[in-house]
Amino acid sequence: MKNILITGGAGFIGSHLVRLMVNKYPQYNIINLDKLTYAGNLENLKDIESYTNYQFVKGDICDYEFVMNLFREKSIDGVIHLAAESHVDRSIKDPFSFANTNVLGTLSLLQAAKNYWGESGREGFKGKLFYHVSTDEVYGSLEQDGTFFTEDTKYDPHSPYSASKAASDHFVRAYFDTYGLPIVISNCSNNYGSYQFPEKLIPLFINNICNNKPLPVYGKGENVRDWLYVEDHAIAIDLIFHKGKNGDTYNIGGFNEWRNIDLIKVMIKTVDRLLGRPEGSSETLITYVTDRAGHDLRYAIDSTKLHKELGWSPSLQFEEGIERTVAWYLNNKEWLNRVTSGDYQRYYEEMYKE
Ligand SMILES: NC(=O)c1ccc[n+]([C@@H]2O[C@H](COP(=O)([O-])OP(=O)(O)OC[C@H]3O[C@@H](n4cnc5c(N)ncnc54)[C@H](O)[C@@H]3O)[C@@H](O)[C@H]2O)c1
Repeated sequence: MKNILITGGAGFIGSHLVRLMVNKYPQYNIINLDKLTYAGNLENLKDIESYTNYQFVKGDICDYEFVMNLFREKSIDGVIHLAAESHVDRSIKDPFSFANTNVLGTLSLLQAAKNYWGESGREGFKGKLFYHVSTDEVYGSLEQDGTFFTEDTKYDPHSPYSASKAASDHFVRAYFDTYGLPIVISNCSNNYGSYQFPEKLIPLFINNICNNKPLPVYGKGENVRDWLYVEDHAIAIDLIFHKGKNGDTYNIGGFNEWRNIDLIKVMIKTVDRLLGRPEGSSETLITYVTDRAGHDLRYAIDSTKLHKELGWSPSLQFEEGIERTVAWYLNNKEWLNRVTSGDYQRYYEEMYKE
């Protein structure tokens, strides 16, 4: 029996990972630690909440004493750390929350892992692992020149979000170098799929197209992102958690680059078709707005290492992934309505009163 702590499991990627791990590993106890910020929603995990190998714990990763007690109480053997503030626009308005959660929160988890596993010396680190889930945004921005981010690309973050994630990556590596804490890091490209909070591009735009609301496109929509289906990210995390090399970094991406404006047109066509509107008719909703400050031009991940060493490739073609994603949001209007109205938080506030 292994006790695995997943942080941020009520969020977008975390909920997919928790579902995968709970279903695939009945022999593990999966403990989901989440503060339930605006981005955390336990409704994302309704289908597995009664499983005997799953437990939810409400708490803040920044609270070291609380985290240390949790390690002791649950005899934690491994950590997969996803909890974070994750929205770039919010980081521009409130950088302190990002430094607090992403940097100090990660530090508090690292310190608890080191102190708990290392109570009887470095021998205690055997069989343990601290897995830190990070982003390709730490690498900065690429030109439109066909180059890719590899694991050796120099860090060059530009937004408060990416700077906070870069700092947390450095702390994780520092714990490996200084204390010998077993760690692994992955840096992934943009994810898309079900259960994503509708402040992010894909769910926001699907929702706006459905409701005939404007589609605010930054600049000329020429920024390029590399999109990966969220379930493929969860599969990669599972693989790296079990087979990744201690101290290593793995890039995760789908070799699937899209200019924002082209992606938006694909979403428009798909939503129009599924709603029985003339395909492309919702393009009139596109509204160009002032570009985001410090907006990185292009991200593109080279995930060759992960493919060659651990045999991972994305399982889904983008066309199928986006079709599934649009269909999911159209078929789960209640989820979308509760999230956009804030009702999901009121419900869980009652349930988890402190
Ligand atoms: N979304 C992407 O495209 C993407 C791509 C690459 C990497 N990542 C990374 O993956 C991780 C998950 O991203 P996501 O998109 O699922 O994020 P999300 O914003 O959907 O979820 C974050 C979760 O963390 C929880 N959380 C926030 N602060 C906390 C705290 N102090 N203590 C405990 N829990 C807290 C929230 O309640 C929420 O459930 C992040 O670390 C992010 O940097 C995301």
